Amino acid sequence: MQKTLPPFKLKDLLVKQAEKSGFPIMDAGRGNPNYLSLSLRKIYQIFESFAYDTQSDGDKDLVFLSLKRDGLKEKFLSYTEKYSSPYARHAFNMIKRAEIEIGENADDILYEVCLNLIASQYPYPPRISPLTERIVKAYLNKTLFQGKFDLSKFSVFGTEGASAAIVYLFKLLKESYLLGNNDKLAILTPVYAPYLEMPALKEYNMPWESILLNKESHFQITDEHLKKLEDKKIKVVFSINPGNPTSVAFSQESLGRLEKFVKEKRPDLIFITDTPYSNMVRGFETIGSRLPKNTIEVYSYSKYQGLAGWRLGVVLIHEDNVMEELTDKLPTHQREAIKMRYTKTEDGKRCPKVIDRLLADSRDTVLTHTAGLSGPQRAMLVIASLYDLYDAKGRYQSTLIDELKRRWDSFYSGLGLDAPVDPNLSHYYAFIDILEIAERVAGKEVKERLEKESYIQAFLVKLAEEKGVICLPSNGFGGTDWEVRISLSNIGLEELKGVGEKIVSVIKGC
Ligand SMILES: Cc1ncc(COP(=O)(O)O)c(C=O)c1O
Repeated sequence: MQKTLPPFKLKDLLVKQAEKSGFPIMDAGRGNPNYLSLSLRKIYQIFESFAYDTQSDGDKDLVFLSLKRDGLKEKFLSYTEKYSSPYARHAFNMIKRAEIEIGENADDILYEVCLNLIASQYPYPPRISPLTERIVKAYLNKTLFQGKFDLSKFSVFGTEGASAAIVYLFKLLKESYLLGNNDKLAILTPVYAPYLEMPALKEYNMPWESILLNKESHFQITDEHLKKLEDKKIKVVFSINPGNPTSVAFSQESLGRLEKFVKEKRPDLIFITDTPYSNMVRGFETIGSRLPKNTIEVYSYSKYQGLAGWRLGVVLIHEDNVMEELTDKLPTHQREAIKMRYTKTEDGKRCPKVIDRLLADSRDTVLTHTAGLSGPQRAMLVIASLYDLYDAKGRYQSTLIDELKRRWDSFYSGLGLDAPVDPNLSHYYAFIDILEIAERVAGKEVKERLEKESYIQAFLVKLAEEKGVICLPSNGFGGTDWEVRISLSNIGLEELKGVGEKIVSVIKGC
C-alpha cells in the first residue's frame, strides 16, 4: 500500500475495509456534525411561512410579487401570536431585539428576509446587502472578537461556505499580485488537508512552506515560528484557528506574541485565518482582533449550528487593509493589469478595493452581477446570526460545548486515559499519537515493535478492517507520522468510548 495517500483518498480505502469488518462502521474521519440546532430550523420555518402567507392571494398558483415593507412588524407580531409556540415568540423577539440592540428597523429586516426567502429575484447587491452585513458583523463581533470590537470599518462577503471563500482568496492573491512567483505562502500545520493541496494546483502554482505547530508547545505560536516569518519572501500566512486537526485555539499569549512581531518586524504580512470552530471555545479571540488591517477573516456557519448542507460562509476584511497599501506599491504594469481585469465592475481608473476584487474573482469578473449567495442562504445568514445573538444566556452554545466535551471525555475513557484539559480546546477533534498511546496502554515493547514493523496507514487499515473504525492520519495534514485525527462531531457519546477501546485493542494486537 502507498504510504502517503492523501487523507481523503485514504479515507475511501478505509471505508471499503470497514464495510468488510462485520462491525457497524464508525466514521471518525468525517468532520461533518451529526447534530443541528432544531430551534433555529423551526424559527426559519416560521419566517418562511410568513414570507409566503403575506404574499398569498387566495389559492391562485401564479401570484405577483406584492410584498410591502411598511407594517410588516405588526403583521409578523399577529402572525407569530397565532402560533402559541416558543419558536414563534423567539422569532418575533429576535426582530424586536435587533431593533433595540443593533438599531435596525424591524420592517426593513422582515422585508429583506421575506424577499430573500421568496427568492424570485436575483439577490442584490451580489456581495451582501448593507442590512445583512450589519447583522452578520454583530454576530461575528460576538463570535470572533469577544463582542468588543468596532467592526464598522469592515466589509463582509457572503460565500458558499469557507471552502468557496478559500478558492476565491487564492484567486485574489494570484490575480492581484499579492503573492508573486518569487514569494512564499506560509501554512501553519497540521492543517485541513485540502488547503495543503491548493498551492500546488496549476492555476495557483504558489511556492509555500509549512510552519509546524507542535504538541510540546501545545500547538501555540512560539518565537521559533516567528523567526521563520522574518523571511521577507513570505508574504501570506495561512492558519486555521481553532485548529483542524489539532482543535487548539491560539492563546492570548500566542496572539500577543504575533501582534508584537508583526508590528515590530513584519507590518506588511497578510494573514488568512479560517475560524469555523470558534464558537466551540469560550472566550475565543481571532487573529484579526489584534491585527485587523493585516487579516482576512474567513468564517463558516457549517459546524456550529449544523448548517454544513446550507453552504454558508463569510469573508471579513478591513477597509484600510495592508493589501490596499501593497497594491499601491506594485509596479505600474501590474497595477494596470489589475485595472484591466476588473474594469467590468469598476471605472478602470483605479485598482478596485480588495473586497470588490474578491467578489469579481468569485465569478471570473464577467459574471459578477450574479455573484454571491442565493436568497434563502442570505435569509439564513440573518436568521442564524440573530438566533445566536439573542439566544437566552447562550443556551445553544453551552449545550454544544458541553456535548463535545462529554464526547471528548468518553473517547479518552475508551482509551483508558485521563482526558487532556486545555481551555483553548474546541473538542471537535481528538488528535492522538498512536505510538504514545501504545506505550501508555501496552508498554514500551509494543510501541517499539509498532514503530519498527508498521506505519500509520497500515495501522489505520487494520483498525478499519478489524473494527470498522475510520480515522485519518496527521501526516496527510502536514503533521507528524503516527498522529491521528478522530472526529468527535460525527459519532455519539457511547460509540466514541467504543472507538477508544477499539484503538487500544488493535494496538494490543499488533
Ligand atoms: C478548517 C476548515 N475550513 C473549512 C471547512 C469547510 O467549510 P465549509 O463547510 O464552510 O465549506 C472545514 C470542514 O471540515 C474545515 O475544517
